[in-house]
Amino acid sequence: MKVIQVGIGGMGNAWINAVLQSEEVTFAGFVEVNEAIIEEQAKRYDMDRSRIFKSLETALKKTHADAVINVTPPQFHKEVSCLAMEAGLPVLSEKPLAGTLSDAQAIIRKSDETGVLHMVTQNYRYNVPTQTLKSVLASDELGKIGAVTVEFFKGPHFGGFREEMPYPLIIDMSIHHFDLMRYFLDSDPVSVYGRSWNPSWSWYKGDASASVSLEFASGAVVAYNASWCSNGQETPWNANWRFECEKGVVTLNDDHVYVEHLMGVEGGEGFRSSLHDEIALVPPIVMDRTAQAYLLHEFYEAVTTGKTPATTCQDNIKSLGIVFDVVQSFATGSAVQSSV
Ligand SMILES: NC(=O)c1ccc[n+]([C@@H]2O[C@H](COP(=O)([O-])OP(=O)(O)OC[C@H]3O[C@@H](n4cnc5c(N)ncnc54)[C@H](O)[C@@H]3O)[C@@H](O)[C@H]2O)c1
Repeated sequence: MKVIQVGIGGMGNAWINAVLQSEEVTFAGFVEVNEAIIEEQAKRYDMDRSRIFKSLETALKKTHADAVINVTPPQFHKEVSCLAMEAGLPVLSEKPLAGTLSDAQAIIRKSDETGVLHMVTQNYRYNVPTQTLKSVLASDELGKIGAVTVEFFKGPHFGGFREEMPYPLIIDMSIHHFDLMRYFLDSDPVSVYGRSWNPSWSWYKGDASASVSLEFASGAVVAYNASWCSNGQETPWNANWRFECEKGVVTLNDDHVYVEHLMGVEGGEGFRSSLHDEIALVPPIVMDRTAQAYLLHEFYEAVTTGKTPATTCQDNIKSLGIVFDVVQSFATGSAVQSSV
């Protein structure tokens, strides 16, 4: 399968490497609008300059591609993805699906109208720690999930669009964690309530810290506390997670999964204490492919066999919908019933 990659900047590197290492996918060409990035990346990857174009329109005319990988910033996702789908080419798009709800809806309409696949790269679902955690939750050994606590604290200085956008943490980052909530709980939220703020030392224009409470249809309530301008003791990108379950607790701490089972209740009259087994480290599961390699393979299978991938735009709007509902809650100071 031959692909055109649109956007070869920061995250573009992960996709260039994924395609270069794939035995299923090769490059038909690239699209990039920034001369300095073209210069730098052409040198780094020894690219054929005649296959780097300034617009997707030209790339579509000059190459024979089967699909498009969209790695542009969120505000360009609609334009690039819709053009590709109009030309009949399936799209593998970086998250977030789009920068606004109306852009996201336009992408879904285009995919529905044309019948062309549009898949979003929720790569956090497909790494060893998150898959190990998912395997514990899916086994049902801990029973019903009542509550979840998620803590995410990082201090990255990105420069570029993230430092200019409103709600950079929630729109550009938390989409991964909100999507993971849906994935881990196998449920969609019914309402969200949150507040955001920007610490005095923040290097972002928009609010970089937030606290959100989410209620899911399964009955689970999630407490999400996060910041992108933390000054120490950072968590992993996956965040730290704690699941309070009917028959015990499972945590993802510093990318290691631990389980403790409830063994019963001890004591006679009055105060009684819960009995647990030892906190056990869950052996990491083995994966043939992770992150971008996993998604690229899933995309290839979808395009070549028609198998529906998990993160189509039609599904992903439910994750992105959480983002917009949370932003609405920040703006209104009220709880927001889920909109999608
Ligand atoms: N999944 C992840 O873990 C992850 C991590 C980082 C970034 N991302 C996502 O990847 C996307 C890109 O982010 P980034 O960090 O690479 O940004 P970036 O600014 O470093 O790179 C984007 C590139 O796209 C180019 N570009 C912009 N408009 C274009 C257009 N119309 N046609 C062709 N090229 C165009 C820019 O010149 C730039 O080189 C964003 O949606 C971001 O949220 C995802």
